[in-house]
Amino acid sequence: MDAASWDERYRGAELVWTAGPNRFVEEELAGLPVGRAVDLGAGEGRNALWLAERGWEVDAVDFSAVALDKAGRLAAERGVGLLRTVCADLTGWSAPEAPYDLALIAYLHLPWPQMAQVLRRAASAVRPGGTLLLVGHDAANLEHGHGGPQDPRVLYTAEQIAELWRPYADVLRAEAVTRPVTDADGSHAAVVVLVRAVRK
Ligand SMILES: C[S@@+](CC[C@H](N)C(=O)[O-])C[C@H]1O[C@@H](n2cnc3c(N)ncnc32)[C@H](O)[C@@H]1O
Repeated sequence: MDAASWDERYRGAELVWTAGPNRFVEEELAGLPVGRAVDLGAGEGRNALWLAERGWEVDAVDFSAVALDKAGRLAAERGVGLLRTVCADLTGWSAPEAPYDLALIAYLHLPWPQMAQVLRRAASAVRPGGTLLLVGHDAANLEHGHGGPQDPRVLYTAEQIAELWRPYADVLRAEAVTRPVTDADGSHAAVVVLVRAVRK
C-alpha cells in the first residue's frame, strides 16, 4: 500500500489500531532503561506514545501524515512531550547521526528487498549495546494462522529477520509466537514473528 492508501485508511476519528501498546512490544521493552528510540512505521503511535510516556525520547517515523497527525494529537491530549513525528518514506529513510538506543519495527510489511533495506538501516541506526525489536505477521498465517496481509511477498519469518540482523547484532529471540484472536468469525490463532537483538 502506498502513503495515499494508508492516509485513507487512517482518516476518520476512530483509531485503526489500539490505543495502548502491542502486547509483545510491552512485554519485551517494559524492563529496558529509557533512552532514545525510533519507531519505524509508527502509524498512530500506540507503541511510540507508550514508550514516550515511560520517559523515552521517541522519533515516530511513518509516511502517512494522517496517522502522524493522530499520534501528535494523542500526545498532546495525554501530555506526552517526548514524541517527535517524522513523515518519511522508510524506503528512502536513513537515521540521523546520533545513534538510537532502540529501534522498533511493529507490523511493517514491505516487499522483501525494501524490508531488508529498512532492517539494515534500523540496525545501523542503533548504538552498540542498543536493542532491535521486530514484531510482525508470520508468513505461516497464510496456511496455518489468521489475519495480516495475504500477499506472501510482504510476509516473513523470524529466521529471515534474524539472518538479516546477525551481521549487525546478537539475536536473543527469533520465534514464531501464537496469539489467540477472537473476531466476528470466532476464535483463531495468529502467528506472530518476534525478533529481539542487541547491536554489536
Ligand atoms: C500495520 S501499520 C502498523 C503501525 C504501528 N507500527 C503499530 O503497530 O500500530 C503499518 C504502518 O507502516 C506504515 N508504512 C508502510 N509502508 C511505509 C513506508 N514505505 N514508509 C513509511 N511508513 C510506511 C503505514 O503507513 C502504517 O502506518
